[in-house]
Amino acid sequence: MAETTLQPPLRQLLKRAAQAVDDVVHKGHNLNRLLAIQSLAGRAAVQDMCYASLREYGTLAALRDTLLSKPLSDPAIAALLVVVLRQLRAHPEAAHTIVNEAVEAAAAMQPWARGLANAVLRSYLRRGDAEVATLPPVARWNYPQWWIDKVAQAYPLDWQAVLAAGNQHPPMTLRVNARRGSVAICLSQIQETGIEATQVGASALRLARPVSVSRLPGFVDGAVSVQDAGAQYAASLLDIRDGQRVLDACAAPGGKTGHMLELADVDLTALDNDALRLERVGENLIRLGLSAQLKLGDAATPEGWWDGVGFERILADVPCSASGVVRRHPDIKWLRRPDDIAQFVAQQSLILAALWQCLAVGGKLLYVTCSIFPEENQQQVDAFLLANDDARQLPLDCEPLSAGQLLPNDNHDGFFYALLEKN
Ligand SMILES: C[S@@+](CC[C@H](N)C(=O)[O-])C[C@H]1O[C@@H](n2cnc3c(N)ncnc32)[C@H](O)[C@@H]1O
Repeated sequence: MAETTLQPPLRQLLKRAAQAVDDVVHKGHNLNRLLAIQSLAGRAAVQDMCYASLREYGTLAALRDTLLSKPLSDPAIAALLVVVLRQLRAHPEAAHTIVNEAVEAAAAMQPWARGLANAVLRSYLRRGDAEVATLPPVARWNYPQWWIDKVAQAYPLDWQAVLAAGNQHPPMTLRVNARRGSVAICLSQIQETGIEATQVGASALRLARPVSVSRLPGFVDGAVSVQDAGAQYAASLLDIRDGQRVLDACAAPGGKTGHMLELADVDLTALDNDALRLERVGENLIRLGLSAQLKLGDAATPEGWWDGVGFERILADVPCSASGVVRRHPDIKWLRRPDDIAQFVAQQSLILAALWQCLAVGGKLLYVTCSIFPEENQQQVDAFLLANDDARQLPLDCEPLSAGQLLPNDNHDGFFYALLEKN
């Protein structure tokens, strides 16, 4: 029987999820990389546990601490209790099984932890969530305090909605390939297979529930791709026309590369400094039946990859805090440190300055982040405009984006767009 079909016992799943949560919150590791090296058997269940535990980590850790008689110094057991509390809150009907399995998992990790896990979890079964209402803001909002403060300062009217949106389950959204037919026809083909979907953008269809891509009509041959509706603004904002020489400067895994090529016949160079991720651009383009020149290189040092001929359009989808997409990557909230933002700003500034040299006069550069922090967004652009008098920021002809900042909501993730023209 294939490895994927055997579901390991719950105690093992809890242990594996606890290990991953411990590695994220106490050791700073990236969750997707940790999951990628896990055994396939049970990986999906472990992933669900980790995502849910990290989305609600503030609440769960505070709840755990109210149940302990003294602080717990073992980080792995501390993480296990977080994972188990999440399972108990989500599946109260299975509480006794979960507690029994969790106690065995704790004992397997540390023999002394059997009694502690038993006491803490049974105490939770007696007391329930009563304490949650009185927990501090980190527990209430499930973000570190510095993050809450930053969002509240940037968006004094919307900060609660912005934080809440980042804790939702992300929608699965499709991009319809304009070369393969109309959005309306694609929508009806999808609905005919029993998949519920709604149009939420020019080419964007949001599914009511995530499904395996193998169930999507037309996915294999490139009629649809998975891409958030907020990310789908990039290709049309860049205003690309047939025949133009276009650079996609931070391209991998190629979502926006593919979209641009679906919209126009352009001579496109897709650059990324991560070889493995760049391979994924190639794979995505093969599925779409489209092509681009793939280049491995650092956007901040064009001398390594640029032939000196100006590009008419540049997409600069720069590395950023990813604070606009935390509902897809809940580990980010707990991995980022306040100082990281200044480092991203410095890196983005170098990339933007270098790419500007590669832009032809009269050309346009679209600066993009999936961040909601103003330093990485309009403040970054303002500093650039101050230092470059051959640059002007163009208005965005698109209602939800008029000020460039797209805040996360039910229909899309958080993004920032600024269109710059070279005079
Ligand atoms: C936000 S992701 C790009 C997403 C992509 N545009 C898409 O739509 O699928 C940022 C990318 O920038 C790449 N990157 C980071 N620093 C870079 C640099 N200095 N030069 C080129 N690429 C870089 C990362 O490897 C990552 O693939």
